[in-house]
Amino acid sequence: MAATGAAGSPGTAVSTLRVAVLAGGRSSEHDVSLSSAAAVRDGLLAAGHEVTAIEIGRDGVWRRDGSVVSVTPGEGLAGADVAFAALHGPYGEDGSIQGMLETLGVPYVGAGVAASAVCMDKVLFKDLMATLGLPQVGYAGIREEQFAEDPAAAIGRAAAVGLPSFVKPAHLGSSVGIVKVADREHLGAALRVAFSHDALAIVEAAAGGVEIECGVLEAPTGERPRALASEPGEIVYQGEFYDYAAKYTPGAMELLIPPRISASALARVRALALRTFEAVGCEGLARVDFFVDGEEVLVNELNTMPGFTPTSVYAKLLDASGVPYPTLVDRLCRLAIERHARQAGRRN
Ligand SMILES: Nc1ncnc2c1ncn2[C@@H]1O[C@H](COP(=O)(O)OP(=O)(O)O)[C@@H](O)[C@H]1O
Ligand SMILES: [Mg+2]
Repeated sequence: MAATGAAGSPGTAVSTLRVAVLAGGRSSEHDVSLSSAAAVRDGLLAAGHEVTAIEIGRDGVWRRDGSVVSVTPGEGLAGADVAFAALHGPYGEDGSIQGMLETLGVPYVGAGVAASAVCMDKVLFKDLMATLGLPQVGYAGIREEQFAEDPAAAIGRAAAVGLPSFVKPAHLGSSVGIVKVADREHLGAALRVAFSHDALAIVEAAAGGVEIECGVLEAPTGERPRALASEPGEIVYQGEFYDYAAKYTPGAMELLIPPRISASALARVRALALRTFEAVGCEGLARVDFFVDGEEVLVNELNTMPGFTPTSVYAKLLDASGVPYPTLVDRLCRLAIERHARQAGRRN
């Protein structure tokens, strides 16, 4: 179907796409995903596309207009040209949905299976950063069974990272299950909190300075450079760290664009955001988060599907960099379709 959509450059004919927007999901970020997906739908409609909404319940069941969705491998998803999985956290951002969409044969927005999985595992991600020499805090991954078998040895490894430290479940987001630890005697309790969420914990040395986030958006196919690093933004919040309440209480966090860091640190953030994006083999989009202390810039994490409403940090950073929301979602869908076509043209 051909039509003229609002997202094209003036005078350019763009085709209307049928986009399956996946919302909800099984993770604790279910509600955040519902907000992201509603915004994605509005953005796609504003860009002239058609949307099929698929809601994934907390029980994992997929529903469309209240009816259970059934799928057949290789036969796509609800007749959609492309899927936009606006899902955050485990079972959505961790490669599992991406694998399912590969199996169905439908193009999908954003990172593929491997990059999604690596970025959802804080230990694997840091191991990869370490092999590439990218700057980050000291850390140790500790498995639940290691702690159960020899708690003293596990606490010894955790303490060797240095104090204060942050103890976290390795595969969660939204700051769920994170404890800041000041004394060695509290490491065991913090590890138990992490293990109540996840069989793998990560202990990290506390970084100083401010938290800076940078959006990455892949350029239209064929354009160079391959991706844009957005204007970075500074996350300002009250309290010990950027916890769940600071993230989701309206008004609890302020985003400063530009951030209060030196021009050289800012340039380093943008360069490192692109290097990290490339290093993990990301596609489409990412938000790369940093700790910046003077001239020291450390990579914290890369989110392959960051919060995605127009008031989310990612969309604000891209908007400040000249990419309005409808253009953003339109670009991501087109990139997904082009990637799928390239892959289909390969012998494998
Ligand atoms: N190593 C660290 N040094 C300083 N602050 C940290 C560290 N790790 C986590 N934090 C604080 O906890 C927040 C959440 O941690 P993060 O690793 O980004 O997990 P999530 O995936 O839940 O966002 C960070 O934004 C920061 O405020
Ligand atoms: Mg984070």
